[in-house]
Amino acid sequence: MSNSCWGIFRESTHSPGRESDDTEILRLTGKHLEAKGFQVKLKTADEVHEIDDARPRFVFLMCERVEVLHRLRALEAGGVPHVNSPRAVHNTYRDRMIAVLDEANVPFIQSRIVSTAEPAAPGALPVWVKRADVHNTQDGDVVFAPTEAVVATALQGLAERGIARAVLQPHVAGDLIKFYGIGAGGGPHREPPWFRWFYHKDQQLVGHPLDPRQLARLVRRAATALGLEVYGGDAIATATGELVLLDVNAWPSFALYRDEASAGIAAYLALRFAGGRR
Ligand SMILES: Nc1ncnc2c1ncn2[C@@H]1O[C@H](COP(=O)(O)OP(=O)(O)OP(=O)(O)O)[C@@H](O)[C@H]1O
Ligand SMILES: [Mg+2]
Repeated sequence: MSNSCWGIFRESTHSPGRESDDTEILRLTGKHLEAKGFQVKLKTADEVHEIDDARPRFVFLMCERVEVLHRLRALEAGGVPHVNSPRAVHNTYRDRMIAVLDEANVPFIQSRIVSTAEPAAPGALPVWVKRADVHNTQDGDVVFAPTEAVVATALQGLAERGIARAVLQPHVAGDLIKFYGIGAGGGPHREPPWFRWFYHKDQQLVGHPLDPRQLARLVRRAATALGLEVYGGDAIATATGELVLLDVNAWPSFALYRDEASAGIAAYLALRFAGGRR
């Protein structure tokens, strides 16, 4: 079997302010795979074509655009495994994530999908107004709205850019947590999943009670439901000790843990594709 694999970069439009961090984690993962004897071909999302010179043994990817995921799905259907699977990446589009987590009964921030074409009664303020498809790509995609007027302006701004749907979420007060994970149901050889979390640095930390095992479990349940194997996201620890999951992303930059995470992802991929499935 060929030992070649493809690594696919995230589209720069999907990495605002994080282009180099996102590039680095994929590049370093590739380096670790090469050290394990794999031949790694790194590609931009635009360089993904269904028909290529040679079929890779597997694909690891950070790209997110639907057209590119669609092309990769065809390759996957032809028997080339992908991490994350294109379907799992698509599941992180906000409206799909809400539906998938709801169906799987995984607690997630209360979310209401609205049309951007008409003003919505926001309910209790403040709220967050977020485009319903992709994550934050530019100003106006994710807006904190303390008043009904700001909600209306945010929705109108999205509508003018041709974005038909938005998500309204109540603002949750508390300590903001960032997390990263590799492997959700345990690794391919049943090793425990890799999980790291930290308090976001730009905040006045209150120090609300937080059970790290509960956080890890909540995140793993979400990742499993979405089908993600390499993931990250945001949660809030509230005054009552409740954890509120705000967001889950496919293959984040792992910025603070890049060296450890790239080695961990490469080890995970090597085991996963050594012959055994998850
Ligand atoms: N409901 C909420 N309550 C409190 N804070 C929120 C809420 N929603 C979003 N935020 C804040 O806004 C940030 C961005 O929101 P979110 O993660 O949903 O958007 P995103 O599209 O993934 O953007 P980013 O790429 O910046 O994470 C969160 O990390 C958090 O600080
Ligand atoms: Mg986020």
